[in-house]
Amino acid sequence: MSKIAIGIDIGGSGIKGAPVDLGSGKLTADRYRLATPQPATPDAVGETAAKVITFWSPKSDTAIGVTFPGVVQKGVVRTAANVDPAWIGTNLRDVIREHSGFDVHVMNDADAAGFGEYAYGAARTEDGLVLMVTLGTGIGTALISDGRLVPNSELGHLLVDGVDAEEYAAESARDRHGLGWKEWASHVGRFLGEMERLLWPDLIIIGGGVSKEYEQFLPFFDLRAPVVPAALFNNAGIVGAAAAAVEEQRRAVKRAARHS
Ligand code: BGC
Repeated sequence: MSKIAIGIDIGGSGIKGAPVDLGSGKLTADRYRLATPQPATPDAVGETAAKVITFWSPKSDTAIGVTFPGVVQKGVVRTAANVDPAWIGTNLRDVIREHSGFDVHVMNDADAAGFGEYAYGAARTEDGLVLMVTLGTGIGTALISDGRLVPNSELGHLLVDGVDAEEYAAESARDRHGLGWKEWASHVGRFLGEMERLLWPDLIIIGGGVSKEYEQFLPFFDLRAPVVPAALFNNAGIVGAAAAAVEEQRRAVKRAARHS
């Protein structure tokens, strides 16, 4: 039987989690979701995330990965574009441990999605530079080069024509500005065009909830690199967080062996 880890995805509207089969990269059960408390302060989010974790009754050695919609450096949250600013400077790992009693691995949500797509999805066979773009409340990005993740790229905040790309090309911008698919696709295409001009990715993967509806907007893009929807759709973050947590457990064992 292959190993099971747990992935938890903290988002602006929901905190979702599920066990992941590391052999196949598939969820072994439907996601359990609780609404993100508002305001989404560290204490309130920590408490809700802990409920999602304990719902799955992890064992003491189960690898648990948690994603966050902001920059996360060595466990500490550095930006909070779409969550409560009280998060900035907060150690997410400590918050989760205090509320749940479990040690977890934490990372940026788009990085987790990119990691998931590399391990099991649309980037599995791509050795060059992969750019993952998640379109949701915000725009998240992940860069994976020859299988290595360059963490915490925040390219969704690139100023295009003087405007933060997230403001007009995130999925939320479609509702906010009342855009049809074609018009919104032209905004996303403008952003992706800038990404191409600056980074020359070999493959672009579009993730986030809207990736399920890729047929509505992908055909409008006119880009050099192939653009594909996330193979894991909106589960990429959960799957990637779980896979990264297992990898971190392995690295920790190696580190401990080196220091003994
Ligand atoms: C944040 C990123 C995050 C993305 C998707 C952006 O506003 O700055 O860190 O990955 O939203 O949640």
